[in-house]
Amino acid sequence: MNDCMMNIELQAGRGLQQQIREKLVELIQHDYFGTRALPSSRKMAQLLKVSRNTVVLVYESMVDDGYLIARERSGFFVNPELDQEPTLKLVQTRPHLDQNQPNWPHRLRSAPASFSTLNKDKDWINYAYPFIYGQIEPSHFPIYQWRECSRIAQNRNSVHHWIEDYVDVDDPELVTQIRQQILSKRGITASNDEVLITMGTQNSLYLLASLLAGQGVKVGVENPGYADLRHIFTQCGSKPEPLELDEQGLILGQQLSDCDYVCVTPSHQYPTTVTMPIERRKQLLEQAATDDFVLIEDDYESEVNFHEQPLPALKSIDQHGRVIYIGSLSKSLSPGLRIGYLVANKQLIAELRALRRLIYRHPPANNQRTAALFIAQGYYDSHVRRMRHVYEQKWLLMQQGLQRHLHQCVINATPGSFCFWIELPKHVCSSELVTQAAKQGILVESGDTLFAEQQAPKNYIRLGFSAIAEEKINAGLALLGNLVSQLSQHSPSEALHA
Ligand SMILES: Cc1ncc(COP(=O)(O)O)c(C=O)c1O
Repeated sequence: MNDCMMNIELQAGRGLQQQIREKLVELIQHDYFGTRALPSSRKMAQLLKVSRNTVVLVYESMVDDGYLIARERSGFFVNPELDQEPTLKLVQTRPHLDQNQPNWPHRLRSAPASFSTLNKDKDWINYAYPFIYGQIEPSHFPIYQWRECSRIAQNRNSVHHWIEDYVDVDDPELVTQIRQQILSKRGITASNDEVLITMGTQNSLYLLASLLAGQGVKVGVENPGYADLRHIFTQCGSKPEPLELDEQGLILGQQLSDCDYVCVTPSHQYPTTVTMPIERRKQLLEQAATDDFVLIEDDYESEVNFHEQPLPALKSIDQHGRVIYIGSLSKSLSPGLRIGYLVANKQLIAELRALRRLIYRHPPANNQRTAALFIAQGYYDSHVRRMRHVYEQKWLLMQQGLQRHLHQCVINATPGSFCFWIELPKHVCSSELVTQAAKQGILVESGDTLFAEQQAPKNYIRLGFSAIAEEKINAGLALLGNLVSQLSQHSPSEALHA
């Protein structure tokens, strides 16, 4: 009896007690033990090859939590009162569905799952050479400092700061820290009611589009540009207008004149990485005032600009109140935390806040409080300083490796950016390269989905380096260079049909 416990495969790297407890809870929910005693702690310890003490601690904690009861000289049993708990029973079977189900494709007003977007392989971490953009090496996350802040935030006396439903309010500590420690370094001064905490830039964009876009509202987007930005505005009813770029970023003038909103990435144009010079920034602001449009400035990676003092954000030199500024901690700390911020006119912020309340009220308060402490304790600044150095090294290695191994390509390299935008020889098809590269453990991103047109160029790739270990960069680029050479030798038609 109870041999099923033998099936617990205890995994390295996870607490033994945690794993044993999880399995016992599962078995209890499936009524495995019935009224029988659980194996004695000695027997269980032998079965699982763990110390008896470990098992005793698990059993005792489960007695405390009402799952088990201890009967003197008989052992541990499932608490019979659990039988009366309707919430404990698991539903094991699903009803058979008949033909009369809703026709979902018919009901959908749009099909976001069909929007073309960068193929972000969820398994990126298992590639030998992950040149993926937007992820970070796990070893670079400041886990001890984050854990420390999380511990302080979860201190008994602080618990009320984050278990409350704030309805539509943000953690005032986080707003203060973002204003003082992050926005100020971008030259931006804002009061509390001009800042909204969001779940990342993506979320800021969606909130803005939900409130501002719609049929007849003209929204200009850079081309190539952030694909999800186009999708978000399309989803919210506007047809995004692709805008042309040159070696200084967004081109001003006529193409912007009849826009209502212009979305722009001046720090590092996404994805070409070029930085918009200060003169053009000033002209852009002037044109916004003259032609009555609003700029949505996506400052997605400026915070870790490791090359030099970044140019001031558009928002910081905006005298006409024409800029909505959005940023996040995704590139500087981690994309998984989902912490972003939006700075705008206070009336607009009030409406966005009310809209946010309708959707999810506020970003998780525990995350906000931990982030606030993390910044206030100076951990954020020291992390950003350390990462600047790491990324600068990696950027140099990338640049040297690209010159050595991908000399047949046009390399767009902006010091201080997190990726390289690469034009392959004309007839090398990026999606074919991506497929072939993956077979050799190299993860690269095909640039075609970043262009607005159907007939987008098919010979661009993007190489990020925040996720790949420094010592892998050169070898990965060497393999990639070989592949590009091989594909270049195919005739153009072979390449297209490969
Ligand atoms: C240009 C651009 N905007 C927005 C985002 C979304 O960022 P976040 O993680 O802050 O939502 C990204 C993510 O890579 C991005 O590259």
